[in-house]
Amino acid sequence: MGLLCFPLVSLVIHSFCYNKDKQTKYLTLHCNLFFWSFEAMANPRLRGWRKWAKKDWAIAAVGFTIILFALTLLFDSRNPTSSSSSSTFNLPSNHHLIPLTLLHRAKATGAFCLDGSLPGYHFQKGFGSGSNNWLLHIEGGGWCNSIETCEIRKRTALGSSKYMDPLIPFDGILSHQSSQNPDFYNWNIVKMRYCDGASLAGHPESEFKNGTKLFLRGQLIWEAIMSELLSLGLSKAKQALLTGCSAGGLATLIHCDDFRAHLPKDATVKCLADAGFFLDEPDILGNRTMSNFYHDVVQLQGVAKSLHKECITEMEPSKCIFPQQIIENIRTPLFIVNPAYDFWQIQHILVPAGSDPDGYWRRCRLSIQKCDSTQIENLQGFRSSLLKALSKLQHDKEGGMFINSCFVHCQTWMAETWHSSNSPRINNKTIAESVGDWYFNRKVTKEIDCPYPCNPTCYHMDFTQPS
Ligand SMILES: *[C@@H]1O[C@H](CO)[C@@H](O)[C@H](O)[C@H]1NC(C)=O
Ligand SMILES: *[C@@H]1O[C@H](CO)[C@@H](O)[C@H](O)[C@H]1NC(C)=O
Ligand SMILES: *[C@@H]1O[C@H](CO)[C@@H](O)[C@H](O)[C@H]1NC(C)=O
Repeated sequence: MGLLCFPLVSLVIHSFCYNKDKQTKYLTLHCNLFFWSFEAMANPRLRGWRKWAKKDWAIAAVGFTIILFALTLLFDSRNPTSSSSSSTFNLPSNHHLIPLTLLHRAKATGAFCLDGSLPGYHFQKGFGSGSNNWLLHIEGGGWCNSIETCEIRKRTALGSSKYMDPLIPFDGILSHQSSQNPDFYNWNIVKMRYCDGASLAGHPESEFKNGTKLFLRGQLIWEAIMSELLSLGLSKAKQALLTGCSAGGLATLIHCDDFRAHLPKDATVKCLADAGFFLDEPDILGNRTMSNFYHDVVQLQGVAKSLHKECITEMEPSKCIFPQQIIENIRTPLFIVNPAYDFWQIQHILVPAGSDPDGYWRRCRLSIQKCDSTQIENLQGFRSSLLKALSKLQHDKEGGMFINSCFVHCQTWMAETWHSSNSPRINNKTIAESVGDWYFNRKVTKEIDCPYPCNPTCYHMDFTQPS
């Protein structure tokens, strides 16, 4: 089964990264995973990558697609451990590259990545009217739910700063160009790296089980990075926004009120979760795959202590990690950006590997345009569950949302999806414009797209097409 997929996936990645005609918008989603694994797994010494010629990239692509795919299989073969499309790479071009800062103060509290290395962040200073404003973005990349999967992760950039790229581009909501990021371009912008495997919410009491050496210290990492940023000027912020994508979107929800509590009372503080609204829904066989998966993450990493107390006194802690429960108790103004047909959720929650032994869903999982009418009906049901889970936020005066009917995942940290002439729009507004309207109280923003396939501004990911 895996072997059969190999040529297909390798072709997809290759053509997405290198086909000039068709690459356009979503190139980054694919190349992301590619470059992440490329950097992390293949050649940690590779520092001069900006200077590579096209030919070198092509050669590297062929070679490392193999590694990538082996990795994809590894992650995909069980539960939703996959980090696909939520990591952090764009193609090298004329991007401004921001260096990694290792958090030396983490030693004092033992706030280590899974392997015991120091965590890190990337920081670009604000200027002009943005000098006292701060935007923190938390990187995503799935979770690890067992000693085995955490052991694998600790040998990647998602579990160890040893493998993190020292320079990354800042795009979309992280960009310092006003054309790409009209409202936040001159703010202090920080990208927190994700290296604990539990959305920055693990606790050390639960580590060193069965003689393994894994540091489960996400909560300490969050606290140590916050402490450093507060000392760099965050403590005097006038306006601030905590955000993140995928597992980083979940981390945003988990830490939102704590972020607020650290900032001045008169500051404007809000939170934005991108593709982090994971649903507590059964898969197509009726199994609770995602719920079981989160149960294991929460148990393994002792996450309950980072969740709302109101919730864990009422129900099983692993229920309280689901965004629909978190938003019941969150007090800080919140905006949700999520596609209604989030391909990560479709591939891991609705139709996880193993739920479709006959392969009936094989093509539909990879491309919404290949779904038959019964499958589309299923997807519409998934969309309805998302809207239902968001109903509290719909009635919240300070809340906002942008739920577009596209088959994508993270959308805020790429110029192509955040704010450009051909980005996805609802009511003719880009995600950047919608988030800006909400943040600055310019307009109530609760944008919900009509159901698939009505929105012509959507670009749908197609993992079956070699362009
Ligand atoms: C530790 O090992 C025991 C026995 O082999 C097993 O039952 C248990 O699940 C393991 N704990 C973890 C966290 O893997
Ligand atoms: C999923 O559900 C099916 C049918 O209800 C059952 O046979 C199967 O064992 C379940 N699989 C898992 C992994 O729980
Ligand atoms: C959509 O917005 C753009 C500016 O962002 C504007 O030029 C265009 O006229 C608008 N189209 C419609 C149909 O309102």
